[in-house]
Amino acid sequence: MPLPTPFGVFDARAFQGDSGHFHLALVLGEVAGRTEVPTRIHSECLTGDAFASLRCDCGVQLRLALRVVAARGYGVVLYAIGQEGRGIGLVNKLRSYIEQDAGADTCDANLRLGLPVDSRGYGESAAVLRALGVASVRLLTNNPLKVEGLRAAGVTVSSTESLATTPHARNLAYLRTKEQRLGHVKPTGEVVGDDALAGTSPAIDTTQLIGAVRPRPDRPYVVLKFAQTLDGRIATSTGDARWISGEAERTISHALRAMCDAVLVGVGTVVQDDPQLTVRMVPGVSPMRVVLDSTLRVGDTARILQPDAPTLIVTTSRSRPERRARLEAHGVRLELVAPGPDGVDLASALRELRADGVQSLLVEGGAKVITSMLSAAVVDRLIVSVAPTIIGCGTDAVGPLGVTRVSDGIRLTNRAMHVLSDDVLLSWDVGIASRGLHDGHDR
Ligand SMILES: NC(=O)c1ccc[n+]([C@@H]2O[C@H](COP(=O)([O-])OP(=O)(O)OC[C@H]3O[C@@H](n4cnc5c(N)ncnc54)[C@H](OP(=O)(O)O)[C@@H]3O)[C@@H](O)[C@H]2O)c1
Repeated sequence: MPLPTPFGVFDARAFQGDSGHFHLALVLGEVAGRTEVPTRIHSECLTGDAFASLRCDCGVQLRLALRVVAARGYGVVLYAIGQEGRGIGLVNKLRSYIEQDAGADTCDANLRLGLPVDSRGYGESAAVLRALGVASVRLLTNNPLKVEGLRAAGVTVSSTESLATTPHARNLAYLRTKEQRLGHVKPTGEVVGDDALAGTSPAIDTTQLIGAVRPRPDRPYVVLKFAQTLDGRIATSTGDARWISGEAERTISHALRAMCDAVLVGVGTVVQDDPQLTVRMVPGVSPMRVVLDSTLRVGDTARILQPDAPTLIVTTSRSRPERRARLEAHGVRLELVAPGPDGVDLASALRELRADGVQSLLVEGGAKVITSMLSAAVVDRLIVSVAPTIIGCGTDAVGPLGVTRVSDGIRLTNRAMHVLSDDVLLSWDVGIASRGLHDGHDR
């Protein structure tokens, strides 16, 4: 029967195997008698596929597979029900998460529970492919054991194609374990480097840029990122910032978003740039969007209000109640915190985010937010891209910090540097200023 999806109209067929479990085959185009049929054997993962859990990469992989098959115009996505948690089932998978939170990796967690690391068989998937008449497959997977299993079950796997996803700080250890202990090939895509975007995978691994994510009790791990011209501006004097950096650098920005729980800007950037702040240029999950907006200046048609990702606006009692109600009606979450000298009180805003479960926060500007974050010494990692452009006066990347002597500046350590097409990408750990930066500075 036809199953319309945003990726295309698939022919959905259900098959029941000897185990009693069903396989749902989503077939696109003519596959009978064809060779090199793009094929994904996707093990059911209710938490990842349906609820977008960030513990795994399953939901992103499933949608990526549907997209790849749709792009080729033919292929099979075979959804293997009953293979939840590499075969241990949903409840045991939740139990294994408890073990993982206590320090075990995804393999040892199963072993600690007396369960196999991977108990999946591929005989029933092979039978479905035979029933569909597929002559040979181009298997969409990073998992060599799946290739072996299908071959052992009689399927001709003529080639494989990576299904790497851009990692999230929360699934990174899981993906590394799959790579190191289960032999998965580059599940996190290409590592950022001089030739990151020349690789075959659209996924980008920004772990080196982000550094070790260590949230504090009172705030998330904060990564501050901006793109500046060679002369230190993040926008022209009219506020234009599109685009300071090139496409390669902007792709990295999307991968950084995909790595974090939330991405934050000030309302000035929303009003000026109307950004979407979603992940579009790499396969990955869009984070929660956070806007600091003390009086709710954000416009009704702002793109961050669109439902493609969750949005949280941090505001104060200075915003009008009817405006709050209207935004809530848009499905936007509002958090009321104390006012501060720059709008909302930054420490309270970060504390609320942490209390809401945000562990990693990417701050994308603009100038006032960059300045107040650095001023408050709440930045753990700084990522700056420098573009080969000089624009003269404009918006300085960083405003007044009250530093009068160079030796009192904020110390940056552990520099990493990458060349991306024309841009240079620099990242550092951020130390605290050798003397406290003043607050209440004139802005
Ligand atoms: N090149 C880049 O990487 C990049 C990135 C982003 C933006 N930009 C550019 O930066 C410019 C916008 O900069 P901007 O300074 O006007 O905007 P911004 O920093 O995004 O927003 C500043 C506004 O946020 C609100 N806010 C609330 N609490 C705050 C706090 N604790 N600290 C700081 N701000 C707080 C304030 O408005 P209320 O008082 O009304 O709450 C403040 O005026 C645009 O031209 C944009 O294109 C460039």
